[in-house]
Amino acid sequence: MWQAGGVAVAARVEHVGSLLRPRFLHDARAGLAVGELTPARFKAEEDRAVREVVALQEVRGGVVLLVDGASFVLPMSLARIAEVAGGRLHRVPEPGAVVAGPVIVDSRRAGPGCLFAAFVGERTDGHEFAADAVALGAVGVLASRPVEAPAVVVADVRAALGALAAWTVRTVTGTTRVGVTGSSGKTSTKDLLGQVLSRLGRTVTTMGSQNNEIGVPLTVLGAAPGTEYLVLEMGARGVGHLAYLTGLVPLDVALVLNVGAAHAGEFGSREATAQAKGELVEALGLDGAAVLNADDALVAGMSARTKAPVTYFGRSATADVRAVDVRLDEQGRPGFQLVTPAGRAPVQLRLLGEHQVSNSLAAAAAAHTLGMTAEQIADALSAAVATSGSRMQRHERPDGVTVVDDAYNANPDSVAAALRALAAMGAGRRTVAVIGEMRELGAQSAAQHRAVGDLAAGLGVDVVIGVGGEEAAQVVAGATAKEATAHLTADPTTAVGLLDGLLVPGDLVLVKASQSAGLQALVRDLLARVPSQ
Ligand SMILES: Nc1ncnc2c1ncn2[C@@H]1O[C@H](COP(=O)(O)OP(=O)(O)O)[C@@H](O)[C@H]1O
Ligand SMILES: [Mg+2]
Repeated sequence: MWQAGGVAVAARVEHVGSLLRPRFLHDARAGLAVGELTPARFKAEEDRAVREVVALQEVRGGVVLLVDGASFVLPMSLARIAEVAGGRLHRVPEPGAVVAGPVIVDSRRAGPGCLFAAFVGERTDGHEFAADAVALGAVGVLASRPVEAPAVVVADVRAALGALAAWTVRTVTGTTRVGVTGSSGKTSTKDLLGQVLSRLGRTVTTMGSQNNEIGVPLTVLGAAPGTEYLVLEMGARGVGHLAYLTGLVPLDVALVLNVGAAHAGEFGSREATAQAKGELVEALGLDGAAVLNADDALVAGMSARTKAPVTYFGRSATADVRAVDVRLDEQGRPGFQLVTPAGRAPVQLRLLGEHQVSNSLAAAAAAHTLGMTAEQIADALSAAVATSGSRMQRHERPDGVTVVDDAYNANPDSVAAALRALAAMGAGRRTVAVIGEMRELGAQSAAQHRAVGDLAAGLGVDVVIGVGGEEAAQVVAGATAKEATAHLTADPTTAVGLLDGLLVPGDLVLVKASQSAGLQALVRDLLARVPSQ
């Protein structure tokens, strides 16, 4: 027994991610109970891998399942896979050989029973690692050309994964499928909803942010007979993307969070973004449920694009599911009264930042459409923990410096939310915002970066550190114009050097950037520092 999320658990590990360290995977597959893992060992493994890739789910009876969406497929022979995926067998001595393990896309993660899907990437060609995957135990390879190993050869591996996922959806009945999209907060909301719905039944949730035409099928392939809820993060980088995904995986509940400024660079405008995101609700049937944000006019307007009844969430008084008496505690964690048509109940989140109120309401509204009471939802939200890494994660350094890691993703809305959380948490402490670039903002980029510096200064953040080139310089300029202390550093290494000289016990540091800015490494370096005495 050990404590997780304040709940004593004696759990059996059922599904364990293929991305876990091999030894842990092995132990888990051998049926090792979580209770037999020492807390230290579990924690170490969790820190290394689980937090980033695996949804920690609490289910009925206080059992914890570690679910990696891609962990197990329905057992299928290579011959059947070829039939479903429209491929042909090549070099297959045993067409009846059964794939019963995960479908993986990284050959190094191959293990007994798995199927290796080979993709041609920018730098590497998965087909070259086909034999390696089989040497590690893979039953075969899903490939777009013959390889030096047993293979199902298809015209397009992506489409083949889609076909396998669609087949799984048709074959596994009794699963309620929920899709989550939006400009920001998809992963947070999906993780919250996964934890809420797992109070109702066995739930498989997207791991991390695997929300595209590869990640969604991989997650769906993790659904097996007995999976009652499937919570899928769905991303759209263009028109038609969500229509493709919902075509493979018809949804029962479709949730659209927001249409922020995010990705205006890819789509051109917020309206174009809304056009693409709204595809999520279009394929819902009359018996489905659309869950839309009452506070975001472009999202609320998607009601015209669906046959399904709409449940609105938000802060607006008109929302069906809303929050009243919102406050942040001294650690930046929101609390509120959850109001639903099925009653009201108090929520105290463990997650940081006011933006989690909106995400919680979205999850609550989806759970409401599936019959949960306000109390049930509030209890589950109050117990929910962050399951995907680098999203407002608080780390305490031994020297008394607190580092809040939000280096996974950034756009103007999410940076504003993070800065507000920093200000709320920073009462009586010196606050430092380390800001990297927000990517894909298009023509507005310079102005939006400058506005971040301006906001940080306006919120009273004590020190602003911009990391990177032109855009980071804009952040610094925005802060300096408001007379805040601000420094520009060219790269994460230089920033760590500066922080080493600057930080003193008691400081509170926020690290925030788009993932591609590489500030996750900065967080690691910052945390690995042994403070000089
Ligand atoms: N509802 C929201 N509104 C604005 N920003 C948000 C919201 N939810 C999360 N964020 C911020 O956006 C970033 C991405 O969050 P995440 O949950 O990973 O979203 P996504 O999966 O859509 O990228 C995080 O840094 C988080 O702080
Ligand atoms: Mg995500």
